[in-house]
Amino acid sequence: MRHTRIKDLLNSTSILHEVNAKGWVRTFRNNQFIALNDGSTINNIQCVVDFENTPEETLKRITTGAAVSVTGNLVESKGAGQKYEIQVTKLEILGDSDAEKFPMQPKKHSLEFLRENAHLRVRTNAFGAIMRVRSVLSYAVHSYFQQKGFVYVNTPIITGADAEGAGEMFQVTSLPLDNLPKNEEGTIDYKKDFFGKHTNLTVSGQLEGETFAMALGQIYTFGPTFRAENSNTSRHLAEFWMIEPEVAFNDLDANMDLAEDFIQYVIKYVIDKCPDDLKFLEGRLLEEEKSKPQAERSEMALLEKLNFVLENNFKRVSYTEAIDILRDSTPNKKKKFQYIINEWGADLQSEHERYLVEKHFKCPVILFDYPANIKAFYMRLNEDGKTVRAMDILFPGIGEIVGGSQREERFDVLVEKMKALGIDEEELWWYLDTRRFGSAVHSGFGLGFERLVLFVTGMTNIRDVIAFPRTPQNAEF
Ligand code: 4AD
Ligand code: MG
Repeated sequence: MRHTRIKDLLNSTSILHEVNAKGWVRTFRNNQFIALNDGSTINNIQCVVDFENTPEETLKRITTGAAVSVTGNLVESKGAGQKYEIQVTKLEILGDSDAEKFPMQPKKHSLEFLRENAHLRVRTNAFGAIMRVRSVLSYAVHSYFQQKGFVYVNTPIITGADAEGAGEMFQVTSLPLDNLPKNEEGTIDYKKDFFGKHTNLTVSGQLEGETFAMALGQIYTFGPTFRAENSNTSRHLAEFWMIEPEVAFNDLDANMDLAEDFIQYVIKYVIDKCPDDLKFLEGRLLEEEKSKPQAERSEMALLEKLNFVLENNFKRVSYTEAIDILRDSTPNKKKKFQYIINEWGADLQSEHERYLVEKHFKCPVILFDYPANIKAFYMRLNEDGKTVRAMDILFPGIGEIVGGSQREERFDVLVEKMKALGIDEEELWWYLDTRRFGSAVHSGFGLGFERLVLFVTGMTNIRDVIAFPRTPQNAEF
């Protein structure tokens, strides 16, 4: 008999004769009531076992974590909290679970413990909800750009270019590490490497994306990105997913409009599609907040926070204005910031970004026109000669969620900038070609997908919103 998803059974509009459900036992109470979950929804279906006519041996095998198949009528439930339940007539144990050893006991586990069991944590309510929301958000990303006629481009994972110039790359090589071939100068002979050159895992698909935008007009990428930055924070992963739209003829203002509209669309999309999961995550967050001191608690519940982002324009503030605000702020004067802001030109740390968003403006903020020397080489230089047309979007609880810019479309200015930074023109000959042949104003941005999932799910550690996190000293699973 074909099984029906538990979500569909619970959403049934009438009682049904003879249905079959398959899933994993969450709990088994009073030798009679199975709470069964199959991952289709956060809600379990109650299955009432006819314990008098079921062999004792079988009853003993209905343990937390076991995979079972139940057949019976879908009837109105007498119990509270659910409309329907299955009156089981046939029960089959598909896969036993050693109740003593199964790590996901029906009790509260710490997030640290769950991370160590990332292969099983997805069987909990919280992680089931997070991963379903993540999936719907991915779909929303495609839906937004496809509706607007953007072309989805798969930029390469292996590349010779360091788009961000931060040098935080994982090298890709097939050379024997214990016996590296050397050239005449005594350095490693990359001609003998697989690609005949030095290559890395990509830190961004932007540069390749730009070449496509200069032909297809509006494109986006959505793929894995790798950064070997040794920052063990709750917002950094060594492998994360990034969405990078790039649009020909858009200036920075149009770029900001696009980013804001896009973020609001995807958030609205999950609010509409994932009400049960978000409700659960909101409750989880409320519980977690209770253990924090009053001052650190969020003023808004999860859905309120999400709706707030939909209903309010992001505040657009120049870097220069932001520095003035930060310099005069109480935590700066009282030396509460780890990095004190003394002068224009300082790079902003996440403590500063969060102060601006959470304490000062109390809404998402778009900072623009940053000092040229703290931003990547490809950003367009402003008339003042010292700032670039960069924009970062800052979110409450997260800090930077988007980084983007209007690109330097002037060949000469770009080449000069690359020279000053020691970026090899020959290495990026193909990138420079876009400025040689039909160059035009264009802009784009990168949204860190996991940071968006963090915001939407109300989770606080980025390791908890990706299936199997890659972080320094950790590549388990
Ligand atoms: O600000 P970033 O470095 O910008 C770029 O890579 C540009 N090429 C994007 C573009 O203009 N097309 O990274 C973009 C976003 C950040 O705002 C952040 O949300 C996320 O990527 N991000 C990370 N997320 C998780 N772990 C990390 N280590 C991240 N580094 C950046
Ligand atoms: Mg950035």
